Parts: sequence; structure tokens; C-alpha cells
Amino acid sequence: MMAEFTARDRLKLLAGAGASILSACGGGGGATSLPAVAQVPPPPPPPPPPPPPPPPPPPPPPPPVGSTGQPPMLSEVFENNFTIGVALSSPQSDDLNSQSRRIALEHFNSVTPEFEMQMRFMSPAEGVFNFDRADRVIDFALENGKPVRGHSLLWHEETPDYFLVGTRDEIRQRLDTYIGTVVEHFRDRISVWDVVNEATSTDIFSGDNGIGPDRMTIWYDAVGNADYVDWAFIAARAADPNAQLFLNDFETENPIKLGWFMDIIRRLRDRGVPIDGAGHQAHLRLETTAASVLDSIDAVNNAFPDLITHITEMDINMYTDPGSCFETGTNCLPDLGPNPPENLLQQQAQLYRDVFAGLVQRPFVESVTLWGVTDGDSAANNNPAVRFNHPLLFDRNGDPKSSFFAITDPNFVI
Ligand code: GLA
Repeated sequence: MMAEFTARDRLKLLAGAGASILSACGGGGGATSLPAVAQVPPPPPPPPPPPPPPPPPPPPPPPPVGSTGQPPMLSEVFENNFTIGVALSSPQSDDLNSQSRRIALEHFNSVTPEFEMQMRFMSPAEGVFNFDRADRVIDFALENGKPVRGHSLLWHEETPDYFLVGTRDEIRQRLDTYIGTVVEHFRDRISVWDVVNEATSTDIFSGDNGIGPDRMTIWYDAVGNADYVDWAFIAARAADPNAQLFLNDFETENPIKLGWFMDIIRRLRDRGVPIDGAGHQAHLRLETTAASVLDSIDAVNNAFPDLITHITEMDINMYTDPGSCFETGTNCLPDLGPNPPENLLQQQAQLYRDVFAGLVQRPFVESVTLWGVTDGDSAANNNPAVRFNHPLLFDRNGDPKSSFFAITDPNFVI
């Protein structure tokens, strides 16, 4: 029977091995004794071991990309895919010290005036036209080589009351004059227009799925139907035969709303109304799926392959508010404050990455615009509730966020 080694046996064996090693080295006593020498005091105890080195510093911030060690420029990253634009306001473009102006200059190669071109600003009263603010943002953009998206020629939310007084014919005449004057004024500087903004029914969000495709707005009420959409496109084409004319809307990721959006495009087409592009605003939320965004642009492109696709107002809201927050301002989620939880920023970065990964694969997407430069600029800080929101690619200090690195650096680990 094979002897079993106990733990103690093993210790003994080791001790024996140690003895033989010592003897091999000449230690452990031998046949010849050395002469006695004076007693040498034992050596001082070795100094205590040095303290362990400090823990390594935390990993460096997201890896800089590019040979300069600087974050890459968005416009360079996407130069083979689409123009990458940003909404910029005249206070930002006017202020030479504005951080947003600096970032817009550095990273983006298209600009949308944030509010300056809405009807209420351009023509607050009949026959009155104020182009000054819009001119300033537009000239700033063009002087710096950034083409401009005109936004928007008709949006019910920004319509002064005077537009809608009188008969259908009077209303159309006023709209023709307005669009003719505005498009003519900018004709040499703007070649892309959001002609009508948000004309698609939103019944889906108030629980009524049955109606559509048209949104019941003050324009619809005054005109008696949605003919005003046709009138706006026809007037825009008459004023600039070469401009690209877009129908722009939000929540096209919702399949029902998307269906209605496409119904309106189809109707315009059937009636011979000139339309060149579909604008998907892409005001997304953390729970939006990238697939829903990409499916919606695919659906429009498949149905109308000759239409251009633009993403016109992209951001990713940090709040998953209930519908009542949007409808009545109630039950909005509590303020996340200036420093949102890391996991939400990661979710946001992942969604930006997934959406952009799909967009770059779609040659029919010609332009992607972010709705604001930094988180501090975003309209989402005030709507639907006044709270800190963090929907964009740059934080309030103007530093690129994880979302920025997620779309510019494939090696960035979210
Ligand atoms: C809409 C409009 C934009 C802007 C944003 C703000 O989407 O089209 O002009 O007002 O809302 O979030």
C-alpha cells in the first residue's frame, strides 16, 4: 500500500530538503571546525520594509483619439457620412466669448438658427419683417463655411394671431406673402428649409389612436383642413425653385405617428406638391430604442426613395416622464440636479452610439443636427419642466461627454 503523506510528513520532507540544500552550500556544520573567533554582535534587524507604493492613479479620461491627443472634430469623424449640424442662437453667435460658439465653430459643419427664423420673430405683425437676428446667426455660420438649415417657415406654435384672421383665401394670401418674402430674403444663403413643422397628428399621445394623419392645430382650424401644408410648400418652391423643402416632425419613432407622417407625405406627392425631404427631429429619451429610430427613417426612405433624410433636432432626454408631464405638466420626474447618475450617462452614451452606428450605414442620411451645443444650452432644461437636463454631447463646462466619445471612438468603453 502506498504510504500516504500527511501534512506533517510534507513539512518534514521540506525541512530535510532545506538541510540538504544548506549542506550543499557548505553550511550546517562539517568535519573541519573553524577556529573560534571573537563574538560578533548580531546584525541589526533589517529596516522595516518600505510602505507599499500608493495605489495606481485612476485610469486616464476617455482615450483621446487622433494623433494630436485632442478629441477628434465631429465634422471630421463624419465627413464621409453626413454634415453634422447644431442649433445655435444669436446670443451665442454674437458673443465672442461664448463657449458654445467656440465649440460650434470647432466641431460642427452646419447650423440651424435656434429660434430666430420662427414666424413670431420674423414677422410679429402683418407687413413687419425682422430679419436682423436671423441674419446675424446665418452670416456667422456662412462666414465660417457652415451651411444653414432654415427652420421653420410654418409652425403652429410660433404663429402670430394675425396670420389666421379672415377667409381661407386671405389666409393663403398672407402665407404666400410671408413665405415669398422670407425665402426671397435668404435665397442666396439658405438652400434647405423645414417648410412645415409638426403637422402630424399627436392623438396617439393622448390615448386616441384612431384619428390622423393631420394635427388639429390653429392652422387646421382656421383653414378648415390641412391644405395650408400644401400652400406652404408651393409658396416655398415658387420663391426658390432650387431649395430643398422638408416636412419636419417629432416622434417619428412611434410607428403610428410615423404612419401618419408618411400619409401626409404621400398625400403631398399625390397632389403634386413639391417636397424634397423628410426631417426626423429625433428628440429621444433614454428608453427609446435605436431600432425604432432607424426603422422609421428606413420606412420613409423605402416608401419615398427620392426623398432626402435629415435628422434635424437630435438630443437624448435624461427623464422618462409620464405622458401627463408633457400634456399637463403633472407628475414630472424630480430634478436630477447638475450631476446626473453615471448609469444614466452610460445609457445615454450607448443610445447615441447605437443610433449613430446605424446612421453612418445609411447613405441616404445627408445631415444630422444636434439641438444645442452643451447641456446648459438645451431647451430640454425648461420643457416640459424646469430641471437640469443633460441631453447633448458636451456638458455644461463645454467638455465632451461619454456620449461624444461613444460616437467618435469605437474603442471607447462605455
Ligand atoms: C421643436 C421645434 C424646435 C425647438 C424644439 C425645442 O422640436 O421644432 O424649433 O423649439 O422643439 O425642443
